Amino acid sequence: MFVHALVLRSAAVACAATLLVAAACAQSGVSAPSREDCLAEFTPQTGQPGKDVIWVPTNDRLVTRMLQMAKTTPQDIVYDLGAGDGKIAIAAAKEFGATAVGVEYNPDMAKLGQCYARAEGVADKVKIIQGDIFETDFSDATVVTLYLLPDLNLKLRPTLLEMKPGTRVVSHSFMMGEWEPDERSMTQDGSAYLWIVPAEVQGAWTFRERDGTDAFGIVFEQAFQHVTGTVGTGPSATLIADGRLTGSEIEFSLQRNGRTAKARGQVHDDRIDLTVTEGSREVVYIGTRS
Ligand SMILES: C[S@@+](CC[C@H](N)C(=O)[O-])C[C@H]1O[C@@H](n2cnc3c(N)ncnc32)[C@H](O)[C@@H]1O
Repeated sequence: MFVHALVLRSAAVACAATLLVAAACAQSGVSAPSREDCLAEFTPQTGQPGKDVIWVPTNDRLVTRMLQMAKTTPQDIVYDLGAGDGKIAIAAAKEFGATAVGVEYNPDMAKLGQCYARAEGVADKVKIIQGDIFETDFSDATVVTLYLLPDLNLKLRPTLLEMKPGTRVVSHSFMMGEWEPDERSMTQDGSAYLWIVPAEVQGAWTFRERDGTDAFGIVFEQAFQHVTGTVGTGPSATLIADGRLTGSEIEFSLQRNGRTAKARGQVHDDRIDLTVTEGSREVVYIGTRS
């Protein structure tokens, strides 16, 4: 192993020595280690202790499935919290073209993951950083993956719910308490759950017709992605039904002019652009907080 490392180091020095031979070195594969080279430095054991949870890798097919559930694209920034050998972050880059960060507490595992990222040719898109998931800022993530434990998911939940609406969270095996998943996948490879961070709409809103004079008020009651609420006040108040948030998209049914109408809209912080469909008639309202 020592001789091997020495050979690699001398080759790297030779490669760096001249630009002319650098291309040849890259072609010969000297600049990128193989996965075996990475393992020669540190070989992890399934079940080895971790800070808050042991290391057990997610199987390859489930990794792909989790990233598919998140609808991962090259525009995404994927964080795997408790990254182990970096396999989810590496797959996010290799299979989906995403930028990815793995956060791993064990420094040997983090080094191994970074080495695997080089071996897989995605070191430009993947960083495996050594850190504690409860002390690392991952607020720029658009996709968060987890394979932790139920109580660790619950500990992360307030931070996840503060993330940008539409951020996708996918967990292998474990749930988020009473925050129900938006999608479940149960296969022989294991179970995975998807949550889409909902916008925050709790409270009183006034909706005014964009091209007219109609207006009404709604008080929304929100529990994660589920929304109930009351339209108007007093004896004529009615309840909304089937209210749901998918990221910043809101939909619900309400009573308008004595019949059931369907409302769909987009939440932009303190404004909701809402289209209410009553039969064949569509009316656009702008909602602001009352
Ligand atoms: C069950 S493994 C999952 C590995 C990888 N995400 C996967 O699915 O293949 C959990 C990983 O979290 C790491 N870990 C435990 N507590 C941690 C913490 N507080 N911060 C960062 N990583 C942690 C462990 O070392 C282990 O590698």
